[in-house]
Amino acid sequence: MSNQEIVKKLLDKGILPTSKNIAHETTKITIVKPRIDDLRARVKIVKEFDYKQKKITVDDFTTHYRERYKTMRKILFNRPEAASAVSIDRAKDMLSDEDQVIIGIVSDVDRMYTGTVKLIVEDLTSQITVIISSKNNNLIEEAKFLTLDEVLMFKGRVRKGVMFLHSIIRPDIPQKKEEFSPEEVYAVFSGDIHVGSNLFLPKQFSNFVDWLSGKVGTERQREIARKTKYFYIPGDLVDGIGIYPGQEKELKITNLRSQYEELSKFLSRVPDDKQIIICPGNHDAGVRLEEPQPRMQDYAESILELPNVTMVTNPSYSNIHAIDNYAGQDVLMYHGYSFDRLIDQVEGLRLAGGYEKPDEIHKFLLKRRHLSPSHNLNLTIPMKQDPHIISQIPDIMVSGHIHKANIGNYKNTISISGSCWQAVTDFQLKFGHVPDPGMIPIVNLKTRKGSMLSFK
Ligand SMILES: [Fe+2]
Ligand SMILES: [Fe+2]
Repeated sequence: MSNQEIVKKLLDKGILPTSKNIAHETTKITIVKPRIDDLRARVKIVKEFDYKQKKITVDDFTTHYRERYKTMRKILFNRPEAASAVSIDRAKDMLSDEDQVIIGIVSDVDRMYTGTVKLIVEDLTSQITVIISSKNNNLIEEAKFLTLDEVLMFKGRVRKGVMFLHSIIRPDIPQKKEEFSPEEVYAVFSGDIHVGSNLFLPKQFSNFVDWLSGKVGTERQREIARKTKYFYIPGDLVDGIGIYPGQEKELKITNLRSQYEELSKFLSRVPDDKQIIICPGNHDAGVRLEEPQPRMQDYAESILELPNVTMVTNPSYSNIHAIDNYAGQDVLMYHGYSFDRLIDQVEGLRLAGGYEKPDEIHKFLLKRRHLSPSHNLNLTIPMKQDPHIISQIPDIMVSGHIHKANIGNYKNTISISGSCWQAVTDFQLKFGHVPDPGMIPIVNLKTRKGSMLSFK
């Protein structure tokens, strides 16, 4: 057997090929596969978004939107309806009674007092007015979910340069094939922790860490804790400093580094065999607010020193528990800063439950293949590669920010919204938003079933 073949064989078995291993392999040593009791965490970072700070110009925004359009058009071309798609320029010139199909970015939505909805849609060639008749109840319902800057496929009859809409086709995700782990292993998803805030709930968080360490609970609960190998934290680890006017009055710890040090005291009690995967949120003031947010580094040194922490960007894709013939689960983690304005701006989402229904927000975003479709939802760096495009279909999508624990499922993508470890704030009350502290969504990767643990 050649060295190359030996290396491949070792990699297939999950063994790192060192010169010693290669030498042993030639003498045919038996490899003992890990038993369930030897469950080992396996985390791979699949996709992150790096950005080197530079002066941003108008051209960067033009390139960003052109590239976004091209990528979304490519995704939409997976839909059968796209076979007859033409440019807006051509659609306007066509003298045909048949429906035309165009792919365009929504640049204006005007809801008229008659009930009719008028859109301006653009592509790289031109723009067109698209009319949704007030008599078409289904389309009027769908129009409640329209947002600016989303890229959609429109089908309708074009008369004198105006399209009268018959249907809207969204990029959407296909039904995902479910993959089940051969081992019973669990992933838990924390919500925002907000250490440093007056309203941080240390007792509840400590109870959760005690359970994760196998110190409390029934025999079965301890067994589940032992088999929990992945612990996701989707941002807002600390309350930060200077996040909003007057915040200092609501802080117990007024130094950013000390806030992370306090958190590290809790996280250091999590056994090392459990991987903690962390992205920043809008309260993690050590990194910029503009997305994509880089991995946390400055001020969070005490967290980085922990042996079982993996820092990732916001957003990011990671893969957990790939083993033998099991590809593992791809986890898309996004803090969720775009959600507040999304709920504020999209009538359909408010009618569906708003803050109470994070799975509806995830469904909305998965259907659009974008985490922040409108320009004004977020502070986004106009990178050529749009970090918010959902370019690959996640097995699990996790977010935080809105402090509401929830487990949902859309076309076999498990949707997880993290809770929080902070009592209700005045700011949340003002927006009629009731958070749900002390809840932990947990997913068994063997069954892909989720359930909720309570540490209230
Ligand atoms: Fe938060
Ligand atoms: Fe947040």
